Formats: sequence, structure tokens, C-alpha cells
Amino acid sequence: KGLKLYDPGYLNTAPVRSTISYIDGDEGILRYRGYPIEELAQKSTYMEVAYLISKLIHVSVVYGNLPSENQLLDWEFAVSQHSAVPQGVLDIIHSMPHDAHPMGVLVNAMSALSVHHPDANPALRGLDVYNSKQVRDKQIARIIGKITTIAAAIYLRMAGRPPVLPSNQLSYTENFLYMLDSLGNRSYKPNPRLSRALDIIFILHAEHEMNCSTSAVRHLASSGVDVYTAVAGAVGALYGPLHGGANEAVLKMLSEIGTVDKIPEFIDGVKAKKRKLSGFGHRVYKNYDPRAKVLKRLAEEVFSIVGRDPLIEVAVALEKVALSDEFFIRRKLYPNVDFYSGLIYRAMGFPPEYFTILFAIPRMAGYLAHWRESLDDPDTKIMRPQQVYVGEWLRHYAPIKERT
Ligand code: CMC
Repeated sequence: KGLKLYDPGYLNTAPVRSTISYIDGDEGILRYRGYPIEELAQKSTYMEVAYLISKLIHVSVVYGNLPSENQLLDWEFAVSQHSAVPQGVLDIIHSMPHDAHPMGVLVNAMSALSVHHPDANPALRGLDVYNSKQVRDKQIARIIGKITTIAAAIYLRMAGRPPVLPSNQLSYTENFLYMLDSLGNRSYKPNPRLSRALDIIFILHAEHEMNCSTSAVRHLASSGVDVYTAVAGAVGALYGPLHGGANEAVLKMLSEIGTVDKIPEFIDGVKAKKRKLSGFGHRVYKNYDPRAKVLKRLAEEVFSIVGRDPLIEVAVALEKVALSDEFFIRRKLYPNVDFYSGLIYRAMGFPPEYFTILFAIPRMAGYLAHWRESLDDPDTKIMRPQQVYVGEWLRHYAPIKERT
């Protein structure tokens, strides 16, 4: 019968090996393929980072490095070439109720891509399709190319506006902002400082090892399902308020608190376990999340362009109170990536229910890197955790009239 270790939430189980990102939760360290996150946020671009992470494969290129100038141009071209979205997927987005949550819509759009791109579906084409590096590359460029167009269509639908075609004259992040704000005016150019700020946010969110949604990708992909369905499942996991949905929850929480003088009462409620402090705590970080540090600084940069959000004072004061309170100190609860990101998004004009979409866009790179890595790893097996059975041992069927 074998020994089964009861491990709720997989606190002590490492079902995969990975070369993509490294976290030291006690020291607050995050690296993508060895590069410190702070350095990438300062010097790199999201397109470079997506290449670094998801290892676009060209013939005879060394993988897993930052791209050369030519590799970056090829990569950006491939992503841009794949940025158009099938009309059927846009129709699905537009058929949703007007008040549908954007993440619910995104789950549907990603899974609809699966039927629009059957060329990469092992269920239809056999498992060999998974062994073709070209096929894998294509899916990676396709998803990274399409996600911003899909996200923009979801945003425009919320505003009652028609989709805008992507522009191949702009950078990845500029093109995203262009689709949101241009109203189809081809000469529109987004504010370069805001575009850079969003690009940095994308870098910070690109990858985070075996978080709930990334492990969902690996879980689904281990059955041999196509990558679109696997990614749709991951988006579903990201939607939850304990995961990506926390950035929206933080904004709601800060708005509810409203003013600095209400913080002690709110903290008392958290300590009495009436609710959680959204944007605080992490399964792995038992120190300040390095991404939150960058975001806290970035918030000031964004406010210097668009004006200061008064809720930042509440956030900063809340952080200060929590970090000096025994309840949070003992449990090693620090701000995580979601604590400051929502304030930046709000300052940039995004509605709270759209925040998690802004997490999902860049996280595609991480999902796809893990998808590729799992397919390349000869140790990969179908994910099938054990359970510890604690139910009735043996019972016998009684006719319905004899049951009490
Ligand atoms: N507010 C108040 N108490 C908390 C919080 C919080 N945010 N987070 C953890 N705790 C307490 C928890 O109640 C528990 O207390 P006790 O030992 O008395 O039972 C202790 O700290 C350990 O927490 P846990 O829930 O066992 O930790 P976990 O690793 O299972 O959960 C977490 C991690 C992120 C789900 C949790 O910290 C949380 O719910 N945070 C709020 C939601 C949030 O900000 N999520 C975003 C995470 S980072 C980015 C992402 O993944 O999307």
C-alpha cells in the first residue's frame, strides 16, 4: 500500500525540477534564470525577459539566455506576427454579459483558442506534436502575441467599444496601451514613461516558479492536453483572490479602510481573523517580496506623471502598522507583489476588476516556460497526487426503503 505523506497545499512536495526561476523566501531573493529581478526590472524589457524565460528555440541557438540584437528582433517580429486574434474568439468575448468579470471572460477566450488552433493539439494530432520544437515555439509566440490583443478586446468590451487592431510599429507594451486608448487612431502613441512603467510591471510578474496557476499549467499539460486548455486552466487559478485576484482585493480593502485613522480598527479585525490583509503574506517569502519593493518605488514614478493616489497614504501607513505588529512579525507576513500594483493600475486608469488581467498578460511567459520545460523533462509523468483515505471502511448496499 506504500507510505503516503499527508501534505495539504503541497507545503513539502516538489514534483518538478526547474531552471527557470529561483526564490530564496527567507532572504527575499528572486532570479529569472540566474538574473536578479531588480536588475532585470531596471535594465531589461518584458520582451527580452519573455525570451529569456520561455527560451524561444531557433536552430542551433543556445537557449535560456538573454537574446542578441538579432534574436530579439526575430522574437519581437514572431510575437507581433501572431498578435491577431481569430474572429470567433473575439465573438466569444463580445457575447459575454456586459458585467462579466474580465478574468471569467479571459478563461473562456484562452480555452476558445484551443479549438481555433488544432494544429498543436495532441488529442487530435497525436502526442508526436509535442515533440516538435517548431510547433512548441509557434504556440509560445502565438500565446504571447495574442494575449495583449485578447486583453485589450476584453477591456474595450467593458467600455462598450469595438476591438482595435494591433499595431506592429510599437513595442509590446506600447502596442497594448495603444489598443486600449487609441480609439483606432493609427498615429496615437502612449506616454513613454507610463509604457515603461507597465513594462517593468510585466517583467516583475513574468514568472514565479510553482505558484498555484503555474503548477496548474504543469498539472493539466501532464495529461497531454493542448497548451491553450492548460493555460486556460491556469488563468482560472489566477482568478482566485488568494492568488492573482489579490491585487483587486487590495484596492477594495484600501477603499474600504478609506483613511489612515481607520487602520487600527481594520488591523484589529485581521488579528481577530475576521478577514485577511490582502496583499500580505506569501507561501514562499518570509521576508519582503523583492517585487513589492520595486513596485513601491514605481508607484511614486507613476504618481509623478498622473497625480498622486490618496490611497497610497493608507497603503504606506497600513504596511507600517502591520510590519511593527507582533501578529504579523510572528507569522513573517510582509507585503507581496499585489500590495502596491493595484494602486499603480488605478492611477493609470484601469478599473479594479481588470487588475488581474494585467497579471495574466506577463505571466503567460512563465506558464509557457514551464509548459516547455515539462515537455523537455524525461522525468515528467502525469500528475496524480495521492490522498489519505479517511472515510468509511466497508459498507453494504441497502434497498432504498430499508435506509434510515
Ligand atoms: N492576513 C492575515 N493573516 C494572514 C495572512 C494575511 N494576508 N496571510 C497569512 N496569514 C496568517 C494565517 O491566518 C496563518 O495564521 P495562523 O498560523 O494563526 O493559522 C499564518 O498567517 C500562515 O498563513 P497560511 O494561510 O497558512 O499561509 P499560506 O502559505 O497557506 O498562504 C497566502 C499564503 C498568500 C495564500 C496567504 O498569505 C494569504 O491569503 N494572503 C492574502 C492574499 C494575497 O495577498 N495573495 C497574493 C499572494 S502573492 C501573489 C500571488 O500568488 O498571486
